[in-house]
Amino acid sequence: MTEFDVEEVFTVALKAVKDAGEIIKEAFYKKKAVLTKSCAVDLVTATDQAVEKMLIGRIKENFPNHMFIGEESVAAGEKCDLTDEPTWIVDPIDGTMNFVHSFPHSCISLAVLYHKDIHIGIIYNPILDQMFTAKLGQGAFLNDKPIQASEETELGKSLVIAEYGCGWDIQTMESVLKNITALMNKVHGLRAMGSAALNMASVASGGADCYFQYGSHVWDIAAGTLIVREAGGICIDTEGGPLDLMSRRMICASSEKLALQIIPLLTPLILERD
Ligand code: IPD
Repeated sequence: MTEFDVEEVFTVALKAVKDAGEIIKEAFYKKKAVLTKSCAVDLVTATDQAVEKMLIGRIKENFPNHMFIGEESVAAGEKCDLTDEPTWIVDPIDGTMNFVHSFPHSCISLAVLYHKDIHIGIIYNPILDQMFTAKLGQGAFLNDKPIQASEETELGKSLVIAEYGCGWDIQTMESVLKNITALMNKVHGLRAMGSAALNMASVASGGADCYFQYGSHVWDIAAGTLIVREAGGICIDTEGGPLDLMSRRMICASSEKLALQIIPLLTPLILERD
């Protein structure tokens, strides 16, 4: 079995994410060449691909035995297999649509798992210079300062994030609209900011009280899951049970009490697993 030194891996991961941030910053306000993937609003740019390539290079150089799951590699046909080996799970730009429009709400999301436990989570918005980090059992941080999920437990006083997703199929659109309609007059406010990882970082740092989504992928939520939990929040399945990272559905919140008030209001969307 491969050795796993969390401090050593974290140091390499943090440096790689900072360097990836420079690539994103350099391209952010320029015109981008945009390609589509599964549909007309599922986008990829040369920057997504360049960041992912750079991160793969860093892993190979430093930890040749570690495994890798990345959004753009999977889009290009690589397998999405999560084993017990140390595995880096990467979204090179989460919030690609925002990036394309120079809307400053995009980030790099990187998690490192060992025996399927998330040991490291890093989410970095280089435009706003927000670096969220967590190591298993060691708390969560924003730019090195500890963060805490809110103490809100009441649905009626909660700020809830409900994403639109990036699909135009009828099933997805109906589920999104039903869920927004079901919640709209029961919460303080609803938001959709276009980056799953930054939504989770908002719950972890107390700015939002809950975020749920059907259709997210493991690379969107792996880092955020650890950061939310280390900040005192919860990440569970949208049916209320333990979270399965590959299930493409997740709800995170400041407390289980709050999540359990939202779950019965949701119309589920069944999707193929990662
Ligand atoms: C997307 C964003 C978006 C979420 C989608 C994700 P991408 O990730 O996180 O907020 O609604 O489900 O796929 O494609 O920008 O990396």
